[in-house]
Amino acid sequence: MADKKKMSVADILAAARKSDSTQGEASAPSGEPESAAAEPSQAAEKAASESPADETAKPAAEKPAAKKPAAGGARMSVADMLAAARAETEAGAPSPKSEAKKAVPAKPAAKAPAAKEKPQPPKEIAPQTASILAAARAGQKAGPMSKAEAAAKAKAAPTKTPAKEKVAVPPMPEKPGYARPAPAPQRQVDQGRRATLLAVLMGSFLAAGFTAMAATFGMWTLGLARFMFPNVLREPPTRFKVGFPTDFAPGQVETKFKAQYGLWLVNGEYEGQSQIYALKSVCTHLGCTPNWLEAEQKFKCPCHGSGFYKDGINFEGPAPRPLERYAISIANDGQLEIDKSKTFQEEMGQWADPTSYVPA
Ligand code: FES
Repeated sequence: MADKKKMSVADILAAARKSDSTQGEASAPSGEPESAAAEPSQAAEKAASESPADETAKPAAEKPAAKKPAAGGARMSVADMLAAARAETEAGAPSPKSEAKKAVPAKPAAKAPAAKEKPQPPKEIAPQTASILAAARAGQKAGPMSKAEAAAKAKAAPTKTPAKEKVAVPPMPEKPGYARPAPAPQRQVDQGRRATLLAVLMGSFLAAGFTAMAATFGMWTLGLARFMFPNVLREPPTRFKVGFPTDFAPGQVETKFKAQYGLWLVNGEYEGQSQIYALKSVCTHLGCTPNWLEAEQKFKCPCHGSGFYKDGINFEGPAPRPLERYAISIANDGQLEIDKSKTFQEEMGQWADPTSYVPA
């Protein structure tokens, strides 16, 4: 069974090359393969007569015999030898080499009963090797060859590179004006201006920021200083002099003290007596400031229409009572002196108080 071991492609190639190298020597022992080939054919016929099921052995035994070169005939190529070897392998027949080594190679095949052993399906050839062989037979591709043959073939067929055809390229259209880059000097000038503008802006921003911060600190300082001083009401004095009694003519209403002191100084009459008195310029209705109407000889309140006579008695409008008087007296220098800290109301009979008027 060890002799029946399937030979690999490498073994077959080695055996083929060995046979090439020893061509001269092969002519002498060529009788051995013939005899060896004859023996397998006889063994195959014997096995076929014993077992009709083993029909595959018969063509397999006939194949190598048909492909074998006759003694002294033409030399087989490597492709033919490979094909013959594979055909033998597929048929399960022993190779010529194994037959040459063994005296009776067909004996194990004859001994093996075909009925007992199951028929083995033909082993598939490696697809790569099969494709190479098929291409070599069709003449499309060279079959296996030695390195020396390959080098000689490469030298005989120099490689030629096809000349490249020149492709006519149309000229590119001219760039539009907006796509052209600006000239370098102008760009540098612009960049310089931009940098200067940025520096000025940044400087102005910093200056504005520092100015605002300084102003804020200044305001805080002023507020702190104001906080350190107490709040004082700056009011006019309650006692003041308004002039001599002769400065005011009889029947005159002096209005120049209304804005500053809030009073009218009147040289008039009250209950048939000529007096100089100071009327408070505040309406007794809701506190508005009435006006003196010289033509009508009355005080008229603009808010709700209350009217007062020259002596201060109310006569129209919603005012409920007469105007009030301030205290008045003759100072040491002979001037009229007003004291606003003291008031007199007519409805309470206070106008009879001698401090509420100066006899004219
Ligand atoms: Fe003078 Fe009303 S406040 S009339």
